[in-house]
Amino acid sequence: MHIDILTVLPDLLTSPFEHSIMKRAQDKGLLTVKVHQLRQWAVNEYGQIDDYQYGGGAGMVMMCEPLANAIEQLSKDRKYDEIIYLTPDGERLNQKIANSLSLKGNLLMICGHYKGIDERIRQQYVTKEISIGDYVLSGGELAAAVLVDSIGRLLPGVLGDETSALTDSFQDNLLAPPVYTRPVDFRGHKVPDVLMSGDHKKIDNWRYEQSVQRTKDRRPDLLED
Ligand code: ADE
Repeated sequence: MHIDILTVLPDLLTSPFEHSIMKRAQDKGLLTVKVHQLRQWAVNEYGQIDDYQYGGGAGMVMMCEPLANAIEQLSKDRKYDEIIYLTPDGERLNQKIANSLSLKGNLLMICGHYKGIDERIRQQYVTKEISIGDYVLSGGELAAAVLVDSIGRLLPGVLGDETSALTDSFQDNLLAPPVYTRPVDFRGHKVPDVLMSGDHKKIDNWRYEQSVQRTKDRRPDLLED
């Protein structure tokens, strides 16, 4: 999978992809992420990419021209399966969306700033709008990092144990069961006996029951889907 990201703050998007699973995905050649400074497509030599909003009001709007030129130039090199705008009024990201995006080949993500991007870019170029939650961030960069991470870890071959993404919370609309490691007895708090029974069928049943119970207690809304 290849992901291009358009941003005015490319430095915000270096470290998140240089560690752990995202690094492994890139080292294995399963994922490439390229971050592009939007100001390359600025309308003048001052690097302008935003302007006052029509109708008045505080806050700048990211202009059509730099975004349209950037999208058109990048689209010459590859055909995007989705052009995604990260925005608090987009569809709320969940595991199902991450799963479905992980099946794509080329994605372009646009990080908004200030009051957001001109509506005409949303209408004419953007194919998907995603929010990472009901709160407002200073820009779309951290949201893009979250989205790339949620997708990248699902690409086949990225996780060492092929089954581990399938047992994550939210796959099957269930939260993950509790997990334990050594010691067996931590200050009087013991690991449940069943996990040391060696009986894998019993262990699987216990984990499933714990998942269902945890989901009922914490996220009953997931069971309604
Ligand atoms: N940009 C600002 N806030 C955001 C959010 N919650 N999700 C996605 N992009 C954003």
